[in-house]
Formats: sequence, C-alpha cells, structure tokens
Amino acid sequence: IPVADAAPKPAQKTLPDAQTVTAVKHWTDSLFSFRVTRPASLRFRSGEFVMIGLLGDNGKPLLRAYSIASPNWDEELEFYSIKVPDGPLTSKLQHIQPGDEIILRPKPVGTLVLDALLPGKRLWFLATGTGIAPFASLMRDPETYERYEQVIMMHTCRTADELTYGRELVENLKNDPLLGEIYGEDFANRLIYYPTTTREESPRMGRITDNMTSGKVFADLGLPPISPETDRAMVCGSLAFNVDVKAVLEGFGLREGANSEPREFVVEKAFVGDGV
Ligand code: FAD
Ligand code: A2P
Repeated sequence: IPVADAAPKPAQKTLPDAQTVTAVKHWTDSLFSFRVTRPASLRFRSGEFVMIGLLGDNGKPLLRAYSIASPNWDEELEFYSIKVPDGPLTSKLQHIQPGDEIILRPKPVGTLVLDALLPGKRLWFLATGTGIAPFASLMRDPETYERYEQVIMMHTCRTADELTYGRELVENLKNDPLLGEIYGEDFANRLIYYPTTTREESPRMGRITDNMTSGKVFADLGLPPISPETDRAMVCGSLAFNVDVKAVLEGFGLREGANSEPREFVVEKAFVGDGV
C-alpha cells in the first residue's frame, strides 16, 4: 500500500481566466480546430471574437484575437486556427492536447453580428482561409435562419484540403436534427455552400471577387445578382480581400454598417497581416 506523502504537494499553478481543452482536430499541416470549456458567465453573440492564448516564456499571457466558431447555444467553445510556423502564439498553441489549459478573456466583441445588418431576404457569408470561423458560429445559430430566407456561404482557399473544416461543418449542419426539425427538408435549400479553390483544380474555382463581378456565382446558383433591396453580406478575410470585396459590394449598391448603424454589409479582418 503506498504511503501518502507527508509534505503537501505544491499547488498547481493555474492560469488567469483558464479554460480546459476538451478536443483537438488537425485538418492540414497549417490548420486545426479545438474545443474548450465555456465560462458559465460568458454570453456572446454568434460571430463575435475573444482574446485567447497561453502563458508566454516570460510568464505573461500571450493573447491573440480569435473568432468563436461555435454558436452561442453550445455549452463549449470552438476555435479554428492557423499554425503560423514562427508565430509567437500558434507555434505553441498547435501542440495543445485535451486536458491542457488555455487563457480566455471573457469579453466578446465584433462587427459580424446579425444586429449590425438590416433585415433582408438573402445573407451572404464571404470568407477566405480561417475567415470562415465567425460563420461557423453564425451558420449554426437558428436565429440566422429566422432572420433570412437563404444563407449563402462562399469560402475560398488556395487548395481543396483547406476547405475541409467548412465542408464537413456544412454537411453536418444539413443533417442537423435540430435545424431539420425546425425547417424540415427545406433546410437544404436555405443553406447554400459555394466553396472555391484558386491554386488547385477542384469542381469550383476562382476568387470570390471574380465570381461575383463576372456573375458566375449567381448563374451557378440560379440566383439574381446582389441588390440592396434583398441582399445582406458579412465579410471576413485578409485585409486585401476585405478591401476588394467591399468595393464589389458597394458596386452592387450595398453600404457598410456597424453595430450602432445597421446597413447592408459588415466586414472584419480574419487576421492582421504583416506590416498592417
Ligand atoms: P502573429 O504574430 O499574430 O501573426 C504572424 C503573421 O501570420 C501575421 O502577420 C499574418 O501574416 C499571419 N497570420 C496570422 N493569423 C493568420 C490567419 N488566421 N490566417 C492567415 N495568416 C495569418 N486566427 C485564427 O487562426 N483563427 C481565428 O478565428 C482568428 N480570428 C481573428 C479575429 C480577429 C478580429 C483578428 C484581428 C485576428 C484573428 N486571428 C485569427 C488571427 C490571430 O489573432 C493571430 O494572428 C494568429 O493566431 C497567429 O498568432 P501568432 O502569434 O502565431 O502569429
Ligand atoms: P489567390 O490564390 O488567387 O491569391 P491567402 O492564403 O493569400 O490569404 O489567400 C486565401 C485565399 O483568398 C486564396 O484563395 C486567394 O486567392 C484569395 N484572395 C487573396 N487575396 C484576395 C483578394 N484581394 N481578393 C479576392 N480573393 C483573394
């Protein structure tokens, strides 16, 4: 029978605002998703982001902005992350395992919320790369379908494997018993997925901007071109992408809105680029 240690063990150091990792999935060499426990007091609007991180080598929190990829009804929180080879946070974060702790500052903010848009018929989600994360939340929120008749998820990546997280998410959603129960078989027509690649052959190709200005996406989906009367949009990608999509949407007559002033579209950066 082992004898209990006489000396008390040093208390394990707990992180400030610590949450426990419950699951990790690696999608490619440079993309992974993970789930963590949710602080009981955390309320957020689907589409918002929080600051998360780890303790740095200097003992101070090393935090970065992350979109919450799970919807607001989920009892856990999900994140979808890049692995930047020499990135201060993600070079470490990519090694987390279930049971590990991360820091999560429970102050959600962001512009990609339904309240920042006027009512309409169709809602377009336009994302590149990890910019799909806020839409992974919004696509899973029944309120999105209460407000809009149709949701179109356009996601563009360089290669097909970078689309897998989003593709599986949409497939699972279309078979989701909750949404199926609410909307019936019709739900498959209410969430439209339009993935494209730009640097690898795949069934659908091309930049989101090009597929909109050429009219290809409207022809492929049998939808009328975007108009300020019926269409709303949310944009999340690199700065260059956001700037170019904004110009395209403005070309269709849509105006950029904000929480304080709802209009026809809203934009948020998926990351802060080098030197920006
Ligand atoms: P950093 O020093 O932060 O970044 C180094 C370089 O890597 C950047 O200059 C940029 O060129 C590149 N980079 C950083 N993030 C990305 C990315 N996501 N995609 C492509 N290139 C990138 N990142 C996520 O992975 N998932 C999210 O949900 C997410 N949400 C964000 C929401 C907001 C509002 C903002 C501003 C950023 C978000 N980011 C997200 C980026 C994130 O904050 C970090 O930049 C990222 O985790 C890398 O951290 P790092 O310390 O390893 O490298
Ligand atoms: P492309 O391969 O033609 O550059 P990145 O990895 O550079 O962030 O790009 C992610 C995806 O976003 C790629 O498919 C890329 O297409 C596309 N993209 C990058 N910049 C823009 C832009 N300014 N407008 C539209 N699509 C863009």
